[in-house]
Amino acid sequence: AKKLIVTLPGDGIGPEVTAAAVAVLREVAPELSFEEHLLGGVAIDRTGDPFPQQTQDALKSADAVLLGTVGGAQNSPWNSLPRHLRPESGLLKLRKLLGVYANLRPVRVQPGLEHLSPLRPELARGVDILIVRELLGGIYFDADRKIEGSAAYNTMRYTTPEVERIAKVAFWAAEQRKGRVTSVDKANVLEVSELWRRDVTALRDRDYRSIHLNHEYVDSVAMLIVSNPSRYDVIVTENLFGDILSDLAAVIPGSLGLMPSASLGDGAGLFEPIHGSAPDIAGQGVANPAAAIMSAAMLLRHGLDMPHIAAKIDGAVSQALREKPTRDLGGTASTQEFTDAVLKALDRA
Ligand code: NAI
Ligand code: MG
Repeated sequence: AKKLIVTLPGDGIGPEVTAAAVAVLREVAPELSFEEHLLGGVAIDRTGDPFPQQTQDALKSADAVLLGTVGGAQNSPWNSLPRHLRPESGLLKLRKLLGVYANLRPVRVQPGLEHLSPLRPELARGVDILIVRELLGGIYFDADRKIEGSAAYNTMRYTTPEVERIAKVAFWAAEQRKGRVTSVDKANVLEVSELWRRDVTALRDRDYRSIHLNHEYVDSVAMLIVSNPSRYDVIVTENLFGDILSDLAAVIPGSLGLMPSASLGDGAGLFEPIHGSAPDIAGQGVANPAAAIMSAAMLLRHGLDMPHIAAKIDGAVSQALREKPTRDLGGTASTQEFTDAVLKALDRA
C-alpha cells in the first residue's frame, strides 16, 4: 500500500519550509502520498481549536507526520488566548497523542560550514552527534508533584521498560552510525540514574554486543559537548538532561536552520525542524528550508525504513549548503533557490 505522510505546515515560515521538504520527498519517493491538515495558529483561525478533531482523525491512518512550525509573533492575538487554546498547546497534544517517547536530534557541522559555528574551526570540523532524549517520562511528567506554601517538589521516576525502550532506539541508531553510545546520567547522586545505568548496560550485554557503550555524568558532558564535541557519536539520556543538553548542543552548527529532529514512538513518527515560526521573516521566501528537508530525510530513515534515499537527501543538502547558502548562513539564496539546488544535486546523484 502507498505510505501516507500527513503534513502539518502550521504558522509563519512553517508552510514555506514544509513545501520545500515535500517537493524533495516527491522527487525521491514518488510512491509516497501526502495529505495536508491544520495545526497551530492557522487551525485556531479556521476552526477555533489548535488541534482540530479532523487533524486528529487523519493521524490514525498516517505512516509518518511532517510538521512545519507553530506559533505567532509576540503581539499575535493567539497569545492572549487561554494557555490550552494557544498554538503551542496543539503541538504538545500532538506529541502526546502520537506517543513519541524518543526525540532524536542530530547535531552536525556540515563540511565547509565550520565558519558558522561559534566554536573554533578545528573543534567544529567533522562534528556529527545524535542526541536521543527520552521525551514522555521523568520529572516533567510524573504526577507526583506539588507546590504548597514555601515548599514544592517534583519526582524523577523511571521504570526498566521505559529505560529499555529508549536505549533500544539509541543502540539501533548507533548500529547505522559509528557504533558508539554514551549514556548520560548522574549515577553518583541519583537512584534513578543507578537504575538507568544498570538497565542500559544489561540491554547492551544481552542484545547489542557490537556496540561500544560508555557512561558519563551529565555535568561533565555539558562541558565536553562544547569543548570536545568530536568525542561523541550517539548520546542517550533522560528527559530533563536531554532537554538541556540538546539546546546546548544546538549552538554548535551555528544556525537554527540546520537543526532537524525526529520523535519516535510505536506508531507514526513526528518529524520537524527545531526552529520556530520566525515571524520576522515569514512570507518573504527567504527562510532556510535545510532543517525541514533534513527532517524529511529522518522521516525516510527512521519513519519508513528507507535509509539509502535518506542518505541521498542529506548529501544533496550538504552540496546545496555550499553552493546556494541562504541568508542565515551569510548567503543570498531564497527558499526556492536553495530547494532547486537540492533537487538539482539529487538529479546528479
Ligand atoms: P524562531 O526559531 O522562530 O526564530 C529565532 C530566530 O532565528 C529568528 O530571527 C528567525 O528569523 C531565525 N530563524 C529561525 N528559523 C530559521 C530558518 N529556517 N531560516 C532562517 N532563519 C531562521 O524562535 P522565536 O522567534 O523565539 O519564536 C517564534 C515563534 O515560534 C513563537 O511563537 C514560538 O512559540 C514558536 N516556536 C515554535 C516551535 C515549534 O513549532 N516547534 C519551536 C520554537 C518556537
Ligand atoms: Mg528545550
